[in-house]
Amino acid sequence: VRLDRSVSVGRAEAEALDIDDELAPFRGRFDLGDPDVIYVDGNSLGRPPLSTATRLQTVVTEEWGRGLVGSWESWIDLPRRVGDRIAADLIGAERGSVVLSDSTTVNLYKLASAALDAQPGRQVIVAEAGSFPTDAYVLQGLAAARGVELRAVRPDEVEDALDGDVALLALSHVDYRSGSLVDMGGLTAAAHRAGALTLWDLCHSVGAVPIDLAGDEVDLAAGCTYKYLNGGPGAPAFLYVRPELQPRLRQPIWGWFGQQDQFAMAGTYSPAPGTGSWLVGTPPILACVAAEEGIAVIAEAGVDRLREKSIRQTSFCVDLFDSWLAPLGFSLATPRDPAERGSHLSFRHPEAWRLCRVLIEQLGVVPDFREPDVIRYGLAPIYTRYVDVWDPMDRLRQAAEDRLWETVSTERRRVT
Ligand SMILES: Cc1ncc(COP(=O)(O)O)c(C=O)c1O
Repeated sequence: VRLDRSVSVGRAEAEALDIDDELAPFRGRFDLGDPDVIYVDGNSLGRPPLSTATRLQTVVTEEWGRGLVGSWESWIDLPRRVGDRIAADLIGAERGSVVLSDSTTVNLYKLASAALDAQPGRQVIVAEAGSFPTDAYVLQGLAAARGVELRAVRPDEVEDALDGDVALLALSHVDYRSGSLVDMGGLTAAAHRAGALTLWDLCHSVGAVPIDLAGDEVDLAAGCTYKYLNGGPGAPAFLYVRPELQPRLRQPIWGWFGQQDQFAMAGTYSPAPGTGSWLVGTPPILACVAAEEGIAVIAEAGVDRLREKSIRQTSFCVDLFDSWLAPLGFSLATPRDPAERGSHLSFRHPEAWRLCRVLIEQLGVVPDFREPDVIRYGLAPIYTRYVDVWDPMDRLRQAAEDRLWETVSTERRRVT
């Protein structure tokens, strides 16, 4: 397919925005892979920072290879050290309130379970219907195991669903499908008025949207490090527990990494103070190191500056959507007000699946697809240029105008 429209006038505007972009040099800090592929899926799996390969090489050959088991002296504090970095630079949290641990799913389980234990007279969990499936499954599992009610409601029904029976409100900060960003402070305050604790999933906001957990008085939170934080596939997640709550909450998986004075090898569990008790088993050190590298680059760029660029890029993308895609049968699933969205945009189209495959297989653009009819463009501001917004929009317009979906199969793949 010839992309002859990519030299049309509008692209010059994107090029000018790139020249003015003060964050542009950060793109050079990443492994950019094939220069002919435009990656707009940083909200699913971020790109590798160049420093990650170098650092991993050192850790493998020096720390592991030469230091062998003696390197645990420094590795043992890695989950807390990286947690403190996330707390200070990314999510507005107190020192000692965050650790790197397990996956988001497992952390949601640990946190929600502890919250239910801490609210014994209350029998309801409120969550959003249509939340990311793993969040829903964890809460469904807990509700089934404990015989509590899971009240899954629409976003506009959340406040009305909060009453004196509610133990926990569990929500995503940015919705994985639509990209909408909710009012964390307002909803946390509403939950507190009803006497409920709050648990926030930060997967789609951390590293792209400023977060102030302490200021918003959030109780509990978890998030992943492999999206906007560029920690690598399966990099460990993090969890947050508000300091005042730490003495009241006990996590359900009692493991030796959460044990006070771990190497005393006591026969009875006695949790470490603070968030140390939320660790379970041996942390994946190589993956923790990769997460630390990704986080360091984002912290250096600064979330406020990244958010500014992200808003400019998603707004530019919405303008192109209105001019090019809206007339071709697409609808925008993401809020138009930048204050109400994260850093990805979602376009609905009846042929979304096949259009997504056309972009990947024929047009050199990598977005992703979410059931039933959504194409997501994740614009990770740290390495995405404005031309990387313009070109994928132009190519999607071309694919739709020329009905290129007719050239590919409707059959879904294992990973969409
Ligand atoms: C909102 C949200 N929560 C959780 C997850 C995944 O959690 P885990 O890292 O446990 O697979 C994702 C993954 O895309 C997500 O988007």
